[in-house]
Amino acid sequence: MELGLAGKTVIITGGASNVGRGIVLAFAREGSNIVIADIDEVQGQKTAELTRKQGGKVLVLKTDVTNPEQCQAMVKRTRDEFGRLDILVNCVGWIYDRLFIDKSREEWEKEVDTNYWSVINCVRAVIDHMIAQRSGKIISIASDAGKIGEYREAVYAGAKAAVIAFSKSLAREVGRYGVNINVLCLGTVPPASEEEIGSESMWRSGGLFYKMTPEVKEKMAKAYPLRRLGKAEDVANAVVFLASDAAGWITGQAISVDGGYAMA
Ligand SMILES: NC(=O)c1ccc[n+]([C@@H]2O[C@H](COP(=O)([O-])OP(=O)(O)OC[C@H]3O[C@@H](n4cnc5c(N)ncnc54)[C@H](O)[C@@H]3O)[C@@H](O)[C@H]2O)c1
Repeated sequence: MELGLAGKTVIITGGASNVGRGIVLAFAREGSNIVIADIDEVQGQKTAELTRKQGGKVLVLKTDVTNPEQCQAMVKRTRDEFGRLDILVNCVGWIYDRLFIDKSREEWEKEVDTNYWSVINCVRAVIDHMIAQRSGKIISIASDAGKIGEYREAVYAGAKAAVIAFSKSLAREVGRYGVNINVLCLGTVPPASEEEIGSESMWRSGGLFYKMTPEVKEKMAKAYPLRRLGKAEDVANAVVFLASDAAGWITGQAISVDGGYAMA
């Protein structure tokens, strides 16, 4: 299918590591202009290097998406560099792998900031421009936890549910201007290798990567009707579709990309 994404400009927050990295590489294959907006500049540059090998135009912007001023600066730099902005992919997320009662207020706040405020800040930074140009696609990466809840993920799940409700509500406000807003709800997508995650990835600094032994993955996969965990490409394929005009009549949806885990 011709997706028509060549020459379009996309900002991918959290684009340095794992799922975001896979999304960056997918847009590079489509010939898009890419901005990797990530707090981890070192890993961002590594991902950018791979992108350039595929012939993609890519800019790495060190950005903390929990900071609204930095999000505004990210959008200005993107438009100055590429002259346009067509797509925003909100992929930043964070979780502490512990029970609700074992987390501190600061930890809950980080989960809400990185999973929900980050989306509000980035959407606020792009939306005037998208309304003015009468087109735009916003895709936010949430989780099945935001639909059905998950053990050890209470505040994270609440923040992802907020992303879903925010996106549906805003889709009603801006559809008339040609702006589509959708959410993807993921099942478990472990990094394929340690090279795919930077120092700020929750898989590395949260220690999750090292807990994901082949035995653990095999056990987890049994909960999935398709009997495997996800890959970054599984998510990236859905993102490029939603970013394309082929998905022009889809808005306000929270679509699971999860091997059938949730079906909600
Ligand atoms: N991987 C999974 O199993 C899974 C499952 C469900 C949902 N998700 C969601 O998918 C998204 C991507 O997950 P992932 O596994 O790739 O995560 P990850 O932690 O591996 O990558 C997140 C990226 O965001 C960056 N980042 C963190 N805080 C930031 C900030 N404040 N500003 C800018 N950049 C920041 C990190 O440097 C990293 O590059 C997240 O929203 C996550 O909640 C992932």
